[in-house]
Amino acid sequence: MKLLVKNIALIVGIDTQNRERICNGDMNNVDMCRDAWLTAENGRITGFGSIHEEKQPDEKDFDQVVDAKGGMLYPSFCDSHTHIVYAGSREREFLDKIHGLSYEEIARNGGGILNSADLLRETSEDELYEQAMERVREIARMGTGAVEIKSGYGLSTESELKMLRVIGRIKESIPMEIKATFLGAHAVSRQYSGRQSQYVDLVCEEMIPAVAEQGIAEFIDVFCDKGFFTIEETRRMMRRGAEFGLKAKIHANELDVSGGVQLGVEEGALSVDHLERMGDDEIKALLDSKTMPTMLPGAAFFLGMSYPPARKMISAGLGVALASDYNPGSSPSGNMRMVMSLASIKMKMTPLEALTAATINGAYAMGISKDYGSITVGKVANFFITKPMPNPEFFVYAYSTPLIERVFLRGEEFLG
Ligand code: NIG
Ligand code: FE
Repeated sequence: MKLLVKNIALIVGIDTQNRERICNGDMNNVDMCRDAWLTAENGRITGFGSIHEEKQPDEKDFDQVVDAKGGMLYPSFCDSHTHIVYAGSREREFLDKIHGLSYEEIARNGGGILNSADLLRETSEDELYEQAMERVREIARMGTGAVEIKSGYGLSTESELKMLRVIGRIKESIPMEIKATFLGAHAVSRQYSGRQSQYVDLVCEEMIPAVAEQGIAEFIDVFCDKGFFTIEETRRMMRRGAEFGLKAKIHANELDVSGGVQLGVEEGALSVDHLERMGDDEIKALLDSKTMPTMLPGAAFFLGMSYPPARKMISAGLGVALASDYNPGSSPSGNMRMVMSLASIKMKMTPLEALTAATINGAYAMGISKDYGSITVGKVANFFITKPMPNPEFFVYAYSTPLIERVFLRGEEFLG
């Protein structure tokens, strides 16, 4: 399949240097190409250029010619942190929060993640798949081309495996890039209430080996925070995961300055995520590390928390990623454009920094930035075309205007 996209006013998010992540001031230096065309073959980008510099390839040589009609072309979002496989929804807690309860109080009263775990157990695998696919199609239409999905609402070996199998079925169903993360340590299950250390034993001795044996997850995650898992427990589970080839990602510093960031760096985690509570020591620990700090402003927005100090982090020299955290309790939205807008409005990231964070740096946080996250010859042809816009800033500024017109995954239009 040979594809030509013509009449592109501006290609945004080009990277000709094939960088695996982009840090500091470079996050704002996004390469663009005006009055452009782009070609793809067999799902990969084969070329692009400006008509002012290079003649557009002959339309006759292509199986499909798409007219961008003066819109812009962006690399698809790479959403590196979601919990998109879940059963039902949690509006009751939404009301509790409106009436003043905090996320921690709801969890302490047996709500929160445990509510979703109860519902998930009662839901058949087919039904769970259908519900999750609905959301996956929704984020595809909103421009996401690669997504990480966590388990963590099973909290028993059987139900955790069920969630991971559902993620496997999603992979087969859509040409989006999907990464599966085992998050057995999302909370202590009701069955193990008051026996946290035995639950950690279960994760280490039964769940991790079973997940690894079935080869249905690539990453391991732990909710390392006040009221959830301690630093010691997290380290133990990460190391056990590493023995089985699972790379770590951590939920850290959402509810407390927990030491989770430093632990993630020490243990070589791919990313540390949330970071609503960051001090200078955390920033220092991340500098010179390979760990990607990932911020989830949708969760801070929904829970009314403070936002991570993005400006401070970028000025210190870090590269940062943005992800949606799409989940029923703290971020019931997978809209990455909204996430970019929140990053600009609430964390003072420029729209171009937010784009870098939501694309190439998100891809890095999933270990896939060689193939995804920018418009680069050789990378997978995951991109979207917008309506005509005055400039790329408009895409983040007009935060609720539907601007994404056409979506392409592996070089083919996504019509679902
Ligand atoms: O990333 N912080 C932990 N886990 C999710 C929320 C999960 C839930 O409340 O269902 C998060 O915010
Ligand atoms: Fe999360």
